[in-house]
Amino acid sequence: MDREPVPKKPRVGEEESNGLHSPVTLCHTAPSNELWYQESLKAPEAFWDQLAKERLEWIKPYDKVMDVDMNSGDIKWFINGVLNVTVNCLDRHARDNPDRVAVLWEKDEPKQHEPVTYKQLLDMTCQVANVLKSQGIRKGDRVVLYLPMIPLAIAIILACARIGAIHSIVFAGFSAEALSSRINDATAETVITADEGVRGGKTIPLKETVDTALKESPCVKRVLVATRTGAAVPMAAGRDHKLEELMKEESTECPPEPMDSEDPLFMLYTSGSTGKPKGILHTQAGYILYTGLTQQYVFDCRPGDVFACVADIGWITGHSYVIYGPLSNGVTTVLFESTPVYPDPGRYWEMTERLKVTQIYTSPTALRMLLKSTNEYVTKYDRSSLRILGCVGEPLNDKAWQWYYTVVGEGRCTVVDTWWQTETGGIMITPRPSANDSTPKPGYPMNPFFGIEPVLVDDKGEVITGNDVTGNLCIRKPWPSMARTIYGNHEKFLETYYRPYPGYYFTGDGAYRDKDGHYKITGRVDDVINVKGHRLGTAELESAMNRDGRVAETAVIGCPHDVYGQAILAFVILKDGVTDDEDSIITGLKAMVKTGVGSFAVPHKFLIVPGLPKTRSGKIMRRILRKIANNLYEELGDVSTLANPPVVNDIMQKWLKEA
Ligand code: PRX
Repeated sequence: MDREPVPKKPRVGEEESNGLHSPVTLCHTAPSNELWYQESLKAPEAFWDQLAKERLEWIKPYDKVMDVDMNSGDIKWFINGVLNVTVNCLDRHARDNPDRVAVLWEKDEPKQHEPVTYKQLLDMTCQVANVLKSQGIRKGDRVVLYLPMIPLAIAIILACARIGAIHSIVFAGFSAEALSSRINDATAETVITADEGVRGGKTIPLKETVDTALKESPCVKRVLVATRTGAAVPMAAGRDHKLEELMKEESTECPPEPMDSEDPLFMLYTSGSTGKPKGILHTQAGYILYTGLTQQYVFDCRPGDVFACVADIGWITGHSYVIYGPLSNGVTTVLFESTPVYPDPGRYWEMTERLKVTQIYTSPTALRMLLKSTNEYVTKYDRSSLRILGCVGEPLNDKAWQWYYTVVGEGRCTVVDTWWQTETGGIMITPRPSANDSTPKPGYPMNPFFGIEPVLVDDKGEVITGNDVTGNLCIRKPWPSMARTIYGNHEKFLETYYRPYPGYYFTGDGAYRDKDGHYKITGRVDDVINVKGHRLGTAELESAMNRDGRVAETAVIGCPHDVYGQAILAFVILKDGVTDDEDSIITGLKAMVKTGVGSFAVPHKFLIVPGLPKTRSGKIMRRILRKIANNLYEELGDVSTLANPPVVNDIMQKWLKEA
């Protein structure tokens, strides 16, 4: 072979004082990283082959690295390989370093944390896995999880993976209706929840919400209930069981189910621009390889590090960077149950001092919220353990970047603004501190990760070459943790991601490539709204509100908000003859969204208008609504082609009066 070999990675030296070290080879040398990137594009099969062999423990080796067709969306990695991700996340670390801390549970109650070692987490996982088996749950069964941020939740997730059941975590802020529709879409027979959750000093009635959801989900045969607060919750005889009581009966040993590389690992629902949420499906080997690799290199993770991704396990960030990535690397992961402002805006930094956090990974919304308070909430705590400051979910604006870099990081930590998606499984575009990359630019996720080749494509599908250009962000080469399908709807998968620009994965985002070749995300090019880093589909919110009998039609758009990134603005048309006052209508609509989706999705502003701008074929022109909400009245463009041009002026008048 005439290609250069992938540079050999030096082993890092001694274990650090707290006894933690990673069994995977860690590398921080600058030159090899750039060579690695070049190599990853030049010879992807050899690149991923070496990493999969070195980093993962296989039950049976694979025959072939990949078989991916970016035209047809047929995706397979590490073909015929057999492994179990929990062996990679737990057994191999428990074997070598049983007392190493796997999870540091930062409880909601201020200043309280509890460590869980790799051995303890393995035992707990096996016990839950045995419970699942005793309950008749088998490989390939879907298990819906509606859980608080407790260590047992991680054991439950890994227990599903241990026996080959497909977990589908539903963020515990979703309403009963949203939960029920996800249970039904997956035809899940099992739901695992807890009595209550605790967040920011308030309790969240998880079991109660599950009970309501199950009225509409007859497919569910059993509910396992973990304990967080010990509150007395109703238990349906024959259906509901206390998880800890069942665990007591079970052994702490459970052989890992041999899983094919391409067997499903989990599904996670995310919003698209139309219709109901899609169950994005991820598989075994590629996902665990890529999340571990990115966790190590993006965050420059070293032996002894305490990695704090403060996302909820109900979102993809929690899946990949609270659980699978850090645990596969054998480092300590923080499980953060609280909020950034409880009991006060110093919570992250007090925790950083107490737990000696080395990397923190949060959202731009949290940073924008925190920078409103005095800097003393940050500076009074010792942050000298921090090396990397990460964020994800939405653009990190200049003000928040500067605050993170200067106030939190004292100008000595690297800020990594990472761009990725539920569908990509792991981080795709990011500054790479371990690569000694060029100085990060505020607002720029910067560079593709190893193996990732972003391309900008114009609306006709032509690749835009050169720099200082803007286009639709697509990915040319396959990567191991790419989504494989939408559960039960492969057609929709192809239509959404592979047909818009044949030969490429289409992200749904727009991006700018600057004169130096660095990437900045310009936002969604579809109707998805991103509020506080959470993706919300307009269709879901609208259909929740349209159920109010007084409403004829609604249209939801995102408009700029200085803390949330985007705020949700709802335009509402009432049915003829409705004379209720606007306040009562708005109260009703808020309740509809709360019930239909969840409190976190309630629009921030409502505008009751006489009509909506529509094309002659009846399609709402959201582009015009967005221009009005951004006060860009001069840029409305030609409105004469609308079916109802005068309505634009009516909406504008109403907006000017109320905005
Ligand atoms: O629009 C992009 C935005 O979040 C979307 C993905 O949302 P979700 O699947 O919920 O995953 C969020 C966490 C991985 C993207 O399509 N997004 C994510 N990261 C960034 C971002 N927008 C700008 N800058 C980012 N760093």
